[in-house]
Amino acid sequence: MKGTLIDRRGTPVQLERLIAQGGEGGIYGVQGHSSFVAKIYHKPPDPEKVLKLEAMCDSATERLLKLSAWPMEILLKKQGGPVMGCIMPRISGYKDVHLLYGPRTRLREFPKAGWVFLVQTAMNLARAVALVHEHGHVIGDVNDKLALVNDNAVVKLVDTDSFQIQTKKSLYTCDVGVLTHQPPEFQSVSTFRALQREPNHDNFGLAVLIFQLLFNARHPFSGTFLGGSDMSLEQAIAQSRFVYGQNADRFEMKPPPYSLGLDFVTPYVGELFERAFSPKAERKGRPEAREWAIALEELAMSARRCYTNPSHAYVYGTACPFCSIERKTGRSLFNMPVLLHDIGGARRETLINVGDVWDQIKKIEAPGKLPEFSPAARQALTQPQNDRHKTVLMAWVESKKVWDKAGHDFMAMKGGLQQARKELEGLDSEFDHLSAQIDHSETDFSHLDPYSILAAPIRKLSPADKAVLMSFGVESAADCTEEKLGSVPALRKKIVKELLKWRDGLDKTPPKAPTDQGADNARVRLDREMEIRRAGLVQELIEGPAKLKFAAKKADDERRSILPQIKRVAKDVEQAA
Ligand SMILES: Nc1ncnc2c1ncn2[C@@H]1O[C@H](COP(=O)(O)OP(=O)(O)O)[C@@H](O)[C@H]1O
Ligand SMILES: [Mg+2]
Repeated sequence: MKGTLIDRRGTPVQLERLIAQGGEGGIYGVQGHSSFVAKIYHKPPDPEKVLKLEAMCDSATERLLKLSAWPMEILLKKQGGPVMGCIMPRISGYKDVHLLYGPRTRLREFPKAGWVFLVQTAMNLARAVALVHEHGHVIGDVNDKLALVNDNAVVKLVDTDSFQIQTKKSLYTCDVGVLTHQPPEFQSVSTFRALQREPNHDNFGLAVLIFQLLFNARHPFSGTFLGGSDMSLEQAIAQSRFVYGQNADRFEMKPPPYSLGLDFVTPYVGELFERAFSPKAERKGRPEAREWAIALEELAMSARRCYTNPSHAYVYGTACPFCSIERKTGRSLFNMPVLLHDIGGARRETLINVGDVWDQIKKIEAPGKLPEFSPAARQALTQPQNDRHKTVLMAWVESKKVWDKAGHDFMAMKGGLQQARKELEGLDSEFDHLSAQIDHSETDFSHLDPYSILAAPIRKLSPADKAVLMSFGVESAADCTEEKLGSVPALRKKIVKELLKWRDGLDKTPPKAPTDQGADNARVRLDREMEIRRAGLVQELIEGPAKLKFAAKKADDERRSILPQIKRVAKDVEQAA
């Protein structure tokens, strides 16, 4: 579509290039108006649709125009000619919501998005839907293309001309629907044409989209049916077989592998899903968009970030469920943000896909292959029966040593990388453990800092003891806690007792409860320490593939040079077998 159209007052509107293509029309730029676009229909809309568009333009509000692609003006081919489309606010820098909740596309299209970002998006989606409902309209065709999202989790609704529009005088229906997001009561309608919708119908589709955002793109009604026959998604929806609900067992539905359960979210959010997908929801009503927004805000605030990957977050328990899924599947669900130090000391934030890095590392094998032995020769090596066997075994062990030595650096490096990965995976639970210690540290003795251990009037405390104590961070009476002293190796029990007595003697007043300030400082310190360790481990992993490849090349050269010797011994082994 090219050329010039006119609006209702006859003002010419010049179309620019096609921005996006839809089922019903194309979205075009408008010359001289960079904040607007024109939706031009593939075929001229029928009279009813024209009335609807006019009604939408006339009832547009500032809030609707801010949160959606709402029609603002009608475009005609010429004065008195057919309607071709409409003008709407341009939405730029936004992408389809399904690109965000699909883990694969998310890594590429929303590389910085973590789980809390998904919760915030769900909350903003709920707010946008609430706004439409507040105006008396109904979306009708809720689906995975309804919403666009930007890098700040702001949500805008598109395809508004398909909404059901209520004006003072008329109701314009939404004549379409995608079954994946339509409620049970609509699964077997013969047509959506002229079907009157209620917000309660939207609230089903909204709950499905929120579920998809929060639960790794899982559809709430998609799972394994244990009842024998096939069960289509539409059937499962029609029969309210919510796979994650408390009645899932009764409905014989089991979630796909590596799914999160409803107990992953707050009880409030869990309850809203139960209500939205319950068989009684048609009659009793599903949670409204406003209520979702409140529950999701609470969820976003309750989540704590994971210390292995700060893109992960969770509310309950001490182990990050996303870490567990990523470990089991070997695939990253979220990129990992990390501050790296360049040569020269400059710091820069980067995003890492740990799953991919590990795949690269796994693929690098120590080159140089050992000769294959026959079963008889293997038997002679593992269970030598005679002197001849013993001689070849000794020769084999010797040459294998040389062979292994040649690959030593490679093996050590690979082992180091495995260790780094394990440590990185363990950071989150380590943090949990350490921060629990901060919370439980009963007493804050920081006011005893001026009493140096070097000046402690304890006769049995030798200069050597003092040096050891200093080495283990016990510098003053403030450090004299049972826990800290207990971690100093080979410190005599008597000395520990004396030190504690000395400390208590200094402070006649009962020990103070931990000041919030002290605990806060400790937490900030711990946070920083964890971040530094995490960055170090991630840096080691990122550099892993290149360094390991280099080590593999070196091992290959060395092993090649001793291969003739190995082959000679191998031949002897075969002959002795
Ligand atoms: N106002 C807008 N600004 C920018 N892009 C838009 C706008 N409205 C729609 N789009 C893009 O165009 C696509 C098709 O628009 P839509 O109105 O859904 O078309 P259709 O009803 O023909 O399927 C949307 O998925 C979206 O990506
Ligand atoms: Mg449409």
